Amino acid sequence: MMAAVHESVLEAIGGTPLIRLARLGAGIAAPIYAKAEFLNIGGSVKDRAALSMVLAAERDGLLKPGGTIVEATSGNTGIGLAVVGRQRGYRVIAGVADKTAPEKSDILRAYGAEVVLAPTAVPAEDPRHLFNVVQRLAEEIPGAWLANQYDNLANPDAHIRTTGPEIWEQTGGRVTHFVAGVGTGGTITGTGTYLKEASGGSVTVIGADPESSTYGGGDGSPWYVESIGHYLHPDTVEDRQPQALRSEVIDSYERIPDRESLLTARRLSREEGLLAGPSSGAAVAAALRVARRLGPDDLVVVVLPDSGRSYLSKVHSDAWMRAWGFLEEGDTVRPLLDATGPLVVVEAGSTVAEALEVLRGAPGGLAPVVLARAARPFGVAATEVVGSVSWSALTAALSDGAAKPDDPVAALLEPALPTVGVGQSAAEARAALGASGEEREAVLVLVDGRVAGVLTREVLR
Ligand SMILES: Cc1ncc(COP(=O)(O)O)c(C=O)c1O
Repeated sequence: MMAAVHESVLEAIGGTPLIRLARLGAGIAAPIYAKAEFLNIGGSVKDRAALSMVLAAERDGLLKPGGTIVEATSGNTGIGLAVVGRQRGYRVIAGVADKTAPEKSDILRAYGAEVVLAPTAVPAEDPRHLFNVVQRLAEEIPGAWLANQYDNLANPDAHIRTTGPEIWEQTGGRVTHFVAGVGTGGTITGTGTYLKEASGGSVTVIGADPESSTYGGGDGSPWYVESIGHYLHPDTVEDRQPQALRSEVIDSYERIPDRESLLTARRLSREEGLLAGPSSGAAVAAALRVARRLGPDDLVVVVLPDSGRSYLSKVHSDAWMRAWGFLEEGDTVRPLLDATGPLVVVEAGSTVAEALEVLRGAPGGLAPVVLARAARPFGVAATEVVGSVSWSALTAALSDGAAKPDDPVAALLEPALPTVGVGQSAAEARAALGASGEEREAVLVLVDGRVAGVLTREVLR
């Protein structure tokens, strides 16, 4: 098929191919087709939402010549807004979460956007929170417009007008199940709405959600698949659902553990020739689960939102996968981990006396200090560790009068212990003890990005 000629990149957004996942779907009766959104001009599904939001803002008089586009973005919406915004003559400022892959910020700058980094691991009320940072910028800069993809209805509308009709036409109306990850909810809401209407309500819409995200029923504790799911900091008072998400469009969620998402993303590139990001891995893992329950007359469509090129230093790096405990091969610290006692953690709000009580059971009298949560069905993510405490430092502080038993332990925190993945070797763990320049007494071992145990210098000897 000859590709069309376009007068500008803006006309080249959308119209992505639908590609059968023949290898991953081998042995499954229902065919699975992937919508390759990473082939969009800016590299992701978000180009569609960006174009739709900018055109709507111009139409509504919110964005005028010489104006500035501001947005909080995991990178991809920023890229879409940079492509569209710069083409239409605007300044573009992207607020990016500090946990985002660094390649994404570099791309934003390459397209001419300005990048402001902000922490996401703070409560929504915190003035440093990404959303509050971009809100302030939009108020302070004259002529600035906050795209607000989470609440902007032009975001799902892009998918009602383009992604949905494309899938319906490409499958000749045979699609029966639609699977997508849920970030703002724009993709699943818009595409799902169109497909349900077009099919007279018979298309089933399934959200792919990280296991601990709140959308699918998790507690909102952290996960490692970027750009999808809904996180809840333990100190957040008022949780808001995005308006771009209409939950009644979603029939059910598949809750996918990080390891399954990441390993599926790696299989996609190796077995299908589709180098995609981790959220594509989550979506395809969900699509595989769904398709296994279906028959040959069903047809599953799954969205691959972006390319794996933005994650070469993360999911597509063996070293990264091992360091976070997602890959275990060869000579590893697994036997040492299995031989240590169960993990004990000190909650950040504890007193010195409470911390000492916990430390009685800790290997080497050392424990990580973690953000407090009511319960921990998914364990402690490495990103929730705020420091460490030791029996020796606390008892010394008590005996020389520097602290009293009822004082908050927070005042006596030491830096977080170094981490190794369960897939790393004992030699790598010993090297990690001194990696910060200061010799530490132990390392934390991560399994699936979660703290599974403490290995002391003694044990690693
Ligand atoms: C890589 C990636 N996957 C998934 C999503 C989720 O899409 P949506 O916001 O439409 O729910 C996004 C959105 O930013 C994304 O960048």
